[in-house]
Amino acid sequence: MARARRPFFCGNWKLNGSIAESLALATEVRNGVASLRDVDVAVAPSFTALHAVAKRLEDGPVTVAAQDCFWEDKGAFTGEVSAPQLLDAGCKQVILGHSERRQLLGELDAAVNLKARAALRAGLAPIICVGETLAERDAGETLGRIQAQLDGALADMTDAELARIVIAYEPVWAIGTGRNATPAQAEEVHRFIRTRVAARSAAQAGQLRILYGGSVKPDNIRALMAEENVDGGLVGGASLSADSFVRLVKEGSSV
Ligand code: 13P
Repeated sequence: MARARRPFFCGNWKLNGSIAESLALATEVRNGVASLRDVDVAVAPSFTALHAVAKRLEDGPVTVAAQDCFWEDKGAFTGEVSAPQLLDAGCKQVILGHSERRQLLGELDAAVNLKARAALRAGLAPIICVGETLAERDAGETLGRIQAQLDGALADMTDAELARIVIAYEPVWAIGTGRNATPAQAEEVHRFIRTRVAARSAAQAGQLRILYGGSVKPDNIRALMAEENVDGGLVGGASLSADSFVRLVKEGSSV
């Protein structure tokens, strides 16, 4: 059966890699996935390596994502990087609202919304992360938490803007722990996200790509991708080696 949506895998390199290391990894990933046709692949290096990696990858097929952006385009905002600057550096996407930023840096849904709208304005595709903590899951609050994050992040977006976003469901308890959500747990939340977006626009919900993230590995991606509403992966640890990331993309895109 043909997939309803083109699979998308993004490697989130987090705070890792010199420029030279990032270039080497990006080059290996590009070479490894060059022959694949029915999949989109992105890598998200640190800010310092974005431009060099984007130049290296400019002939495709791998695109470059940033890991965050600010919500204003320019001005007196020391230390921030704007969406137009990321576009200028060669980025096509930007990861927003990652749980590490929410937990360690106090990022709120309202900020994620402002950043997503700035990214869209600049012509970048936001990859918006949502996910519950273990305490929230244990308390039966998973879907309520996801709903609040989703509604907050997508507030005031037009249907045309909704068509350009990607959502990543990343349960906090599964990130970097080696304990991935089961395919059924992922599917329950992915289906909920699609239904929630469908309440605003059925057409956009049907083509919205929803990635799963949290201890995705080459040997568990097939089972996750077999679920109807899992359209790809946002990959941390397993994206830091070209060998495992390329294997993961091949496995995941052949389901
Ligand atoms: P891991 O794949 O290392 O669990 O990280 C997931 C993640 O946070 C991707 O954004």
